Amino acid sequence: MNIPNHVAIIMDGNGRWATKRGLDRSMGHLEGSKTLEKLAIHALDRGVKVLSVYAFSTDNFKRSQKEVDYLMNLIVKYFNTKFEKISKKGIKVLVSGRKTNLREDVLKAIDNIEEKTKNNTAGILNICLNYGGQEEIIDGAIKLAKDINNGLDISNFKREDFYKYLYHELPPIDLLIRTGGELRVSNFMLYELSYSEFYFTNTYFPDFDKSEFNKALFMYENRDRRFGGIIENSK
Ligand code: IPE
Ligand code: IPE
Ligand code: MG
Repeated sequence: MNIPNHVAIIMDGNGRWATKRGLDRSMGHLEGSKTLEKLAIHALDRGVKVLSVYAFSTDNFKRSQKEVDYLMNLIVKYFNTKFEKISKKGIKVLVSGRKTNLREDVLKAIDNIEEKTKNNTAGILNICLNYGGQEEIIDGAIKLAKDINNGLDISNFKREDFYKYLYHELPPIDLLIRTGGELRVSNFMLYELSYSEFYFTNTYFPDFDKSEFNKALFMYENRDRRFGGIIENSK
């Protein structure tokens, strides 16, 4: 089976999952966090090497203070406790996004989890937090400009070379999954998505279990990836 090396998930629909059940939106985030824990391990078991997930966008600060606080508290709690299991599996946790506007305890929890898992080599879980795709490109362009000022020769600069200016040097995304029914990318990993296959599902993220993930892998298996070229005898 042809397993994608790098899978990215826009974990959407937590709020609607809760509202549908007459619960507070925060309960959807709590359920979503449990789903993520299971999926991270399952993805690795299926042979996925890198899993990137959209946990909180730069634009999610537009939400109520109550919801933002709940999400930040949940993230801190997860980084400090629940990720034990993920770490034991040999998964290295990376956090991508801007460090500005984040609370001290959130920053500390990020350092803690990255430090604790830094020598793990079985797979990577990249958590996008206070993350924006355009922001990542801008921040990368600023770093590149500094290198140019310091004498970097860019006469042969290629698109592959820009990856090291992103938040972490990760491979391109092979498969993007968006749960929750919306058909958009909402400013997620714009540089890394250039040739990825897209899989959209109406399932809300808390319900996106292992078998739903397997469906996405199955779909991926049957896609022709051409990267601008032509495949002889293609469908
Ligand atoms: C995604 O679920 C999680 C975050 C954005 C933090 P939402 O909270 O966007 O859920 P819906 O889209 O309102 O249902
Ligand atoms: C994208 O979902 C962000 C995350 C999943 C963290 P949103 O719910 O914020 O996106 P829009 O507002 O529907 O585009
Ligand atoms: Mg949403």
